[in-house]
Amino acid sequence: MILSRIYFSANEDFLSTAADELRPHFRDAVMEPLGPDIAAFEDEGVSIATLAETIREKKLAFTRHLFRGVAEIPLDEVQDLDALGDIAIEAWQQIPLPPRVALHVWQSGEVAVPYRNDQLRRRLEAALIEIDVDVVRGGATHILSACLVPDGLILGSNGAANALSDWPGGRVSLAKPKDQISRSEFKLEEIIRTNLVELPTSGTALDLGAVPGGWTRILLNRGLQVWAVDSGALDSRLEGAPGLTYIPTLAGPFLAENTQQFDLVVNDMRMEPGLSASIMNSTARFVPAGGLAVMSLKLPPGSPLQVIDSTVATLRRNWETVALRQLFHNRHEVTAILRRRQAFDQAGPS
Ligand SMILES: C[S@@+](CC[C@H](N)C(=O)[O-])C[C@H]1O[C@@H](n2cnc3c(N)ncnc32)[C@H](O)[C@@H]1O
Repeated sequence: MILSRIYFSANEDFLSTAADELRPHFRDAVMEPLGPDIAAFEDEGVSIATLAETIREKKLAFTRHLFRGVAEIPLDEVQDLDALGDIAIEAWQQIPLPPRVALHVWQSGEVAVPYRNDQLRRRLEAALIEIDVDVVRGGATHILSACLVPDGLILGSNGAANALSDWPGGRVSLAKPKDQISRSEFKLEEIIRTNLVELPTSGTALDLGAVPGGWTRILLNRGLQVWAVDSGALDSRLEGAPGLTYIPTLAGPFLAENTQQFDLVVNDMRMEPGLSASIMNSTARFVPAGGLAVMSLKLPPGSPLQVIDSTVATLRRNWETVALRQLFHNRHEVTAILRRRQAFDQAGPS
């Protein structure tokens, strides 16, 4: 029998926050953690398409990845790798298998099995090829999932459009570029690689909290002119970079004096989110209506959902929140994609 369970992934420090964020939209749902970064979701009549659509439409930040379960195999039945080929095929065939699928194999937490993930992947891939199903790394419209959790193996099958992410468990894996300046670069790179938003490739960007300069480096490489604002010192590799204007001061004093217009604002400042949002409102006068911004919201310990709500409310004066996402490369923060509203509101505290 096909399971009616859906599984969602989140950063392991925010799995219960992801459940709290879903709760107001699915009051009757039963949610149960099954591994450090994965939980089951069950709500009669709620399909994975409905869940994915709600997450997108309501801009829920913490759920990274979804899959629809077809079988849960207990730990004692997944010890024999050879046998798993047949078990998985039988489960996956409950839903008609297209000729071409992406195969996601991953693990959440410590699992007592005598094989590695890559061995499991090879075994499952071989079993699919045997029944003439073509297995590709990404870009397929259908995803088969196999997620090892401490209690066993969860097998899943669903359309890629409902998965929220192309990566197993939403774990976006990016290679470290050899000229990388900061680990923060992964965040901006993840936004670009996952098509969360189409950032411009020309014009002028304002980078608030730019030091040591990772985001500045990425934006310069994209073809933008960059104004990098931070009271610290930029990495020496950026010295004399064409297109770079470095302003060694804090955001507040810079904005008080500035007259330059910007096509894009990025803000990775280490700062309380409410204050950071007020600064974003002050930048809006220098950005045309419809212009984009990327902003990190550093979450204080406590109640992240309240902090996010009040930050979005502050931003609303001048910025529409297009997406909110706890990226795989975010730690205790979420990333907001913003679009400058048509009218600029100067009133009120900034
Ligand atoms: C996480 S780092 C930014 C990393 C950067 N995105 C990168 O890729 O290299 C945060 C930065 O915010 C800066 N910052 C904090 N408060 C600021 C303010 N009021 N004005 C400008 N920069 C600020 C800090 O100096 C620090 O360099």
